[in-house]
Amino acid sequence: MHDILEQLDRKRGAARLGGGRKRIEAQHAKGKLTARERIELLLDEGSFEEWDMFVEHRCADFGMAEQKIPGDGVVTGYGMINGRLVFVFSQDFTVFGGALSEAHAEKICKVMDQAMKVGAPVIGLNDSGGARIQEGVASLGGYAEVFQRNVMASGVIPQISLIMGPCAGGAVYSPAMTDFIFMVRDSSYMFVTGPEVVKTVTHEEVSAEQLGGAGTHTTQSGVADLAFDNDVEALLMLRRFFNYLPLNNRSGAPLRPSGDAPERCDFSLDTLVPDNPNKAYDMKELIVKVVDDGDFFELQADYAKNIVVGFGRMAGSSVGIVANNPQVLAGCLDIKSSIKAARFVRFCDAFGIPVITFVDVPGFMPGTAQEYGGIIKHGAKLLYAYAECTVPKVTVITRKAYGGAYDVMSSKHLRGDVNFAWPNAEIAVMGAKGAVEIIFRDDKGDQTKLAAREAEYKARFANPFVAGARGYIDDVIQPHETRKRICRSLAMLKDKQIHNPWRKHGNIPL
Ligand code: HXC
Repeated sequence: MHDILEQLDRKRGAARLGGGRKRIEAQHAKGKLTARERIELLLDEGSFEEWDMFVEHRCADFGMAEQKIPGDGVVTGYGMINGRLVFVFSQDFTVFGGALSEAHAEKICKVMDQAMKVGAPVIGLNDSGGARIQEGVASLGGYAEVFQRNVMASGVIPQISLIMGPCAGGAVYSPAMTDFIFMVRDSSYMFVTGPEVVKTVTHEEVSAEQLGGAGTHTTQSGVADLAFDNDVEALLMLRRFFNYLPLNNRSGAPLRPSGDAPERCDFSLDTLVPDNPNKAYDMKELIVKVVDDGDFFELQADYAKNIVVGFGRMAGSSVGIVANNPQVLAGCLDIKSSIKAARFVRFCDAFGIPVITFVDVPGFMPGTAQEYGGIIKHGAKLLYAYAECTVPKVTVITRKAYGGAYDVMSSKHLRGDVNFAWPNAEIAVMGAKGAVEIIFRDDKGDQTKLAAREAEYKARFANPFVAGARGYIDDVIQPHETRKRICRSLAMLKDKQIHNPWRKHGNIPL
């Protein structure tokens, strides 16, 4: 028996060593942690239960029969993050560059299947040279098995990808189908075709970093949600992020009690909005002052900055927050911001997280770039997302709510449950100047007359009471009581139940 135990220890030791000390040193020299070190940092200490440590590939071509490393380039299993269950796979770049073989894919599929059975999230730590070239189509099949599971898990359990090294070719499509993608600056990249192919096909000279680095994907493409400076920061932030997420689509938004009183008022909010309606202000200040303990976890902070999305807590419960940002493009809705917010609202809806919407929107962005780019279809995504959303929806119009954008931003008509406006809110078809130029076209050239008409339009419509008179606004509230009124609304909505009609699935304008 003693011998057998020693043999087991030896086997485990070999597996833990992955591709060997030299390759581990090379990994460290690049500023990267190993697959196992990453799991250790991500999970609660000592909570990791590893599976399939002894799995080996079955490839015999190109001398592979002699090159078998137990675990086959991916460490899989489950553990806890702050005491909550999570399944993990972590690709080991020291073993064939983390390349995905049939057996490697089977290991990932196994934890995904188990996560679906018990209703717990899956976190993938990606660091891979892509398809295991020696295995050919068996590797491609492995990828597709993972893709299929990504899709089946979508909206059932949260899926998060952390890109910590290469992720290229078709391999990018597994993270792309997960709910959130985080990247590490300077050591990770994602692209469908690398710089060499790009050069051959389009004659563009571009580095891997420019083409698919964390900077590119968090500012230009919007593929990734957040970028972090190194592995340690990324893993620790992922632990923090995890706390906002439910374990699955039936468990409801997680609760984390806070000492921050739900009835707390903040009088500085009474002067947040400037008197001049054309002057910007910081919407994030409002968010931070309203959520529990000023703790707001923003996503996609450097992409489509004209809309802000992220998680916070109200009276202890996770909430999703969507807010127009008057500091960028005056808070207009455009293609990118519509898509960004629509995807976020759909995540919240799928996982039972209430949505709070702060509105200050002058309308949809005009111009050929937007029209040619399909703002009609992309703006419709946000409209669709809010309209199909059945979780509690609380809306606060802080200033402008004009035109179609008024309807879109979680209005009463899209089943907003509680819709508030601040006293200075302007809710109308369009701004006074534009409106007057159209309906009083005959007065064109007569500046005095136009100014009088504009003042008249403003007095009549640039307020919350016309909407209030129709019940489109449930109440006009004082800015300082915003937190209290939202918390009360959420408490009232706790057991909200509405159902959309049966259908196979809707046809969101993709
Ligand atoms: C097998 C691979 C591999 C792969 C890397 N390795 N990629 N082995 N299949 N795809 C091995 C290397 O041979 C090397 O082995 C070790 O991993 C480390 O690789 P290096 O090249 O030394 O590392 P580095 O210089 O950091 O470069 C990393 C890399 C490069 C940029 C990822 O290895 C690379 O370009 N690999 C090929 C990428 C690729 O074309 N993959 C297929 C993409 S198509 P030793 O023994 O020397 O340590 C694809 C389709 C997916 O993935 C489709 C899904 C539908």
